[in-house]
Amino acid sequence: MIKAIRGTRDLLPPETALWNFVESTVRDVFRAYNFQEIRTPIFEDTQLFARGVGQETDIVKKEMYTFPDAPRSQDEYGNLHVAMQRLQAAQEKIGAAVDHAIAEIERLRANAEVGIGQSLTLRPENTAGVVRAYIEHGLDKRGLNKLYYIGPQFRRERPQKGRYRQFYQIGAEVIGPATAGSESPARDAEILELLATLLDRLGIQGWTLQLNSIGCPADRARYNDALRAALAPVKDKMDPDCQRRAVTNPLRVFDCKVPEDQPIIEKLPRISEFLDEPCRQHFAQVQEILKSVDVPFTLNNRLVRGLDYYTRTAFEFTHGALGAQNAILGGGRYDGLSEALGGPPAPGIGFAIGEDRLVMSLNETAEAVVRKPDVYIAPLGPGMNKESARLARELRRHDLIVELGDETFRLKKSLETAAKLGSKYALIAGENELSTGVFALKNLATGEQKSIARDALVQAIQGA
Ligand code: HAM
Repeated sequence: MIKAIRGTRDLLPPETALWNFVESTVRDVFRAYNFQEIRTPIFEDTQLFARGVGQETDIVKKEMYTFPDAPRSQDEYGNLHVAMQRLQAAQEKIGAAVDHAIAEIERLRANAEVGIGQSLTLRPENTAGVVRAYIEHGLDKRGLNKLYYIGPQFRRERPQKGRYRQFYQIGAEVIGPATAGSESPARDAEILELLATLLDRLGIQGWTLQLNSIGCPADRARYNDALRAALAPVKDKMDPDCQRRAVTNPLRVFDCKVPEDQPIIEKLPRISEFLDEPCRQHFAQVQEILKSVDVPFTLNNRLVRGLDYYTRTAFEFTHGALGAQNAILGGGRYDGLSEALGGPPAPGIGFAIGEDRLVMSLNETAEAVVRKPDVYIAPLGPGMNKESARLARELRRHDLIVELGDETFRLKKSLETAAKLGSKYALIAGENELSTGVFALKNLATGEQKSIARDALVQAIQGA
């Protein structure tokens, strides 16, 4: 038997009703904060994540689903050849302006010749894709962009409760030129207040907001030097992977999970000691606004996040009931990401909620959010499927949930099926009912049966 791939899963009804409940609540909240939806592709150029998320991160080093695209077809190769000839002819007239284009086509042609396709990666996260889209479509011209997304992400992690290889994120990004206010601590606080509102609206209690500032680029450089210095005498005792990090990207040492290394990590200097004045002030203002809107938080100067693009505010919301994978969401500022990807300066802040974990922490049950059929139509006897279909069409126009039986079913079977589905009513549609225009409507909770004229059916059912 062919089974779902390890770390992926089917979401089945009635659980999917919980997912829909979450997503529609989330969309309502985003609307209230004036966010709009963005949808970016599920796969991107591998370079986007290598440059965006960072070469030394666990995600890029070991968790991405990366594959070469098929080599370009002969047709495309032919087109490249023709484009090249045209460009070379144009070059004689225009000169150096086309040099760059020629070099690019040469590279593609060389790859095509040896049969190498472009390297693609299933997105492990969505921030890099959103920032790529921001640059590609010149979204800076729109001022401040407030964008949200809901969709699958892919990481080749060891599957366990709350950790999957295909998982879903609900995320948002606020990004734009600094002149549009993108750098303001008010944006950070608004994002965090939105998240508190969202979790409250979903009825999720017992969350903790862990907050830190991981500094501006200059602080980071000084901090990295301090970390390297502190790690130099002890790093040989660490796990080989952590030793490498200690040299190449010391901040990533905080992601080392080996238990024996924890006492060393515990003694390392903290970024909070290295923040310069503007950075410290920015963080203080974020906290001030949070206090004024009554969003509780805990300062955690060990929180560094597992992606390289972060600057200044970094945060996670944790939830006690989730077990080892207790981060329900994470996010922060990424003021330099656009520039790292070749775009204009565009400070930004965002977050992503693990939707799988969010659904796990809901008190709501799937049963409670599923809308059951209002009425089950029981066609009685040959030829009645056709008539029942007409009846169902009429009732559904009035936003009733209608389930249709089948003319081959005996009445007893139809009523049993209706009860099993949790339908409020059963409507019997036999030859008699159709000719007289009066139908038997049975309330399945009370067992009471009434005769109702066709044009009064909607009202009788809606009145339930
Ligand atoms: P992240 O912390 O890597 O951040 O992921 C955000 C959330 O996605 C986590 O807190 C967790 O709930 C969920 N998550 C991550 N990996 C898995 C997994 N394997 N299975 C189930 N859930 C998972 C980001 O992805 C950033 N792009 C967030 C962000 C947006 N920062 C700024 N803007």
